[in-house]
Amino acid sequence: MKTIIMCIMAWLTVGCGMAATSSTDTEISRIKKMPSDAVLLQSPDKVLEMRFAVVDGVPYYALTRKGTDVILPSQLGFQLVGTASLDKNFTLTDTSASSFDETWQPVWGEESSIRNHYNELLVKLSKPAEDGQQKSQCMNIRFRLYDDGLGFRYEFPLENALTYFKIKEELTEFALTGDHTAWWIPGDYSTQEFNPTESRLSEIRNLSDEPRKRGGWPHQGFSPTGVQTALQMKTADGLYINIHEAAVLDYPTTNLNLDDRNFVFRTWLTPDAEGYKGRMQAPCKTPWRTVMACASATDVLASRLILNLNEPCKIEDTSWIHPVKYMGVWWEMISGKSEWSYTYEYPSVQLGVTDYAHSKPHGRHGANNENVRRYIDFAAENGFDAILVEGWNEGWEDWYGKQKDFVFDFITPYPDFDLPALNNYAHQKGIRIIMHHESSSSTVNYERWMEQAYNLMDKYGYNAVKSGYVGKIIPYGEYHYSQPLINHYHYAITEAAKHHIMVNAHEAVRPTGLCRTWPNMIGNESAMGTEFRETIKPGHTTIFPFTRLQGGPMDYTPGIFEQDMAITAPGKSGKMNHTICNQLGLYVTFYSPLQMAADLPENYERFMDAFQFIKDVAVDWEKTIYIEAEPNSHIITARKPKLSTLNKASESTGTLKDGKKGVVNNATKFVYALPDNATAADLAKAEPRDVWYLGGITGRNARNAAVKLDFLKPGVTYEAIIYADAPNADYQTNPQAYTISKKNVNSKTVLKLRMARGGGFAVSLREKIK
Ligand code: NOJ
Ligand code: CA
Repeated sequence: MKTIIMCIMAWLTVGCGMAATSSTDTEISRIKKMPSDAVLLQSPDKVLEMRFAVVDGVPYYALTRKGTDVILPSQLGFQLVGTASLDKNFTLTDTSASSFDETWQPVWGEESSIRNHYNELLVKLSKPAEDGQQKSQCMNIRFRLYDDGLGFRYEFPLENALTYFKIKEELTEFALTGDHTAWWIPGDYSTQEFNPTESRLSEIRNLSDEPRKRGGWPHQGFSPTGVQTALQMKTADGLYINIHEAAVLDYPTTNLNLDDRNFVFRTWLTPDAEGYKGRMQAPCKTPWRTVMACASATDVLASRLILNLNEPCKIEDTSWIHPVKYMGVWWEMISGKSEWSYTYEYPSVQLGVTDYAHSKPHGRHGANNENVRRYIDFAAENGFDAILVEGWNEGWEDWYGKQKDFVFDFITPYPDFDLPALNNYAHQKGIRIIMHHESSSSTVNYERWMEQAYNLMDKYGYNAVKSGYVGKIIPYGEYHYSQPLINHYHYAITEAAKHHIMVNAHEAVRPTGLCRTWPNMIGNESAMGTEFRETIKPGHTTIFPFTRLQGGPMDYTPGIFEQDMAITAPGKSGKMNHTICNQLGLYVTFYSPLQMAADLPENYERFMDAFQFIKDVAVDWEKTIYIEAEPNSHIITARKPKLSTLNKASESTGTLKDGKKGVVNNATKFVYALPDNATAADLAKAEPRDVWYLGGITGRNARNAAVKLDFLKPGVTYEAIIYADAPNADYQTNPQAYTISKKNVNSKTVLKLRMARGGGFAVSLREKIK
């Protein structure tokens, strides 16, 4: 086997001034072709083939689809801290193959059952003992090949010279076949809040500065050609390749760094405060590295590769976990209409010392009793499950940008937030208040208070928390995606599970399918969401389902009907770049068991006919069909709600109030055709109708869609309620123009719908009562 030695020059430093320095900027060898005696692994349908070989002591893998290269021979291994290394001198000592096929039921999801079908290859590698070592160094690699992609991870058995070791660099490569089109955000150790960019791989270097000008904070980039997972690409031949990771636990999250002369990505782990990229103790394993290879964009969206690579659910009784549709005392702070803080009186505040009760309130505090009651009333009248209240607790005067250790205690409300009374009021109306824990990235402090904070929630009947990690991390020098922080996020979820609390973490690490194992993790932000207002350009939301959402749902917080910030928050400015129907389409396009109607009640009151769709739409699904899609262009999705969950959710959360007006939540009412004064007994007797929701979103171009409704039951008439951009709608000039029409349709109907620039549509389809 001919080995080609290529010298990789030191990375050039351009743009944002990030010099990529790495101990691996040394010579690496890369073979061009896998040897003919490489071990072969085929996908169940034999379309994908993975080959593995050890060449001159170096482990390599390659992936083909229908005989065409997807990943060229790519190196595997590690450099370790100290003298040991796991990059060469290996011998293949054993291989074993197996198959697996099961169907499992997620607690919530895009469908009620998921098939997990793969062929597996385990290769065992060993290196001779080095100076002073009794045993040889062992590293196993487990490959799982699915019909739509590959997963592989490294495993370190206990019988090993390496028991405790530190990773200097993971050397996993993804050698691509050319200058593919890519949808990416810049590589970073601490934020994912960037606009996604579409470009050729060769253009990343010159474009990587641009998203940083508008993106989140703190920026901790490392290379002008670094990008984050999940990375979506498309080849010139129309193959969709997605590189991601699954089950990131007790290990840093990786970025991908591109050698843009050869189009080779290499993993670039997030270092910890001491610069180490993983502290390992055998027996242990790394997260999965994944490569999806699909013939169509809709197949990428339908792939469940990442979920399947995660462990089954570890929570025995999941009856307390359920989907949540919520509103919040939130957009008014984001828009600048009100504030999280209570007073301007002090240059700094000290918890337990500052006497808020006798301080002078500035009068702009959003989380006050009267305002919270207003939101509870509106949410209850409109069939929501919950309201989020931010800024309820002492400390917000100093929350941001100070790296203050004791920034919040998470248990002491401001004087104008009557915690017991407001919870009582909410519960009487069938609403839960969602707790808010902004840690300000002081994770040491958050862990100190976590038990008391969760106990307070238990005491007053909160069953969900939104947490947040704004700013630089304490412990000082750590990053949002380094191993200690990955362990912190996981600790917060598993501790919450003990208290039967559901978690929605903002600014935490991007999810990697862990919601299969811990379904109380019902939401994550971990990307640039609605809070970035006018920064979000048309097209933005047509990319996330391919990237960020591959690892789990996003609390994107859609539903902004008033695009003009000057109207929402007098004195402020900025216009958002979407039509109202685009926002409606997002409720079907972006899967999340936690969906927010993010705008202010007073803005919805001006458009109650369009708001009806948000009230009706379900948040948990029996079945999902991706009809058409292209990243940065458009996505059209049809989903059938999971009726059992809808019904059970109403009962278990107590939103069903017998004999009272507004009894059954809207989605239930829509499905069961019950009147406003229906009772639980009525619901138990009612026959569900077949119901579907259809949603479309488009990017910067208007688009005509012709949607075949062939997923409906044949021979049955459905009533379609169509929320569409008006003919003259446009995200810049006329974003609030929409039409609502009703139409009888059946499985032979082709619905013609026009999406404006930055627009979309939403359609409710329900079986007609004869
Ligand atoms: C950033 C979060 O993404 C946002 O939703 C929240 O309102 C603020 N932090 C304050 O916690
Ligand atoms: Ca955020």
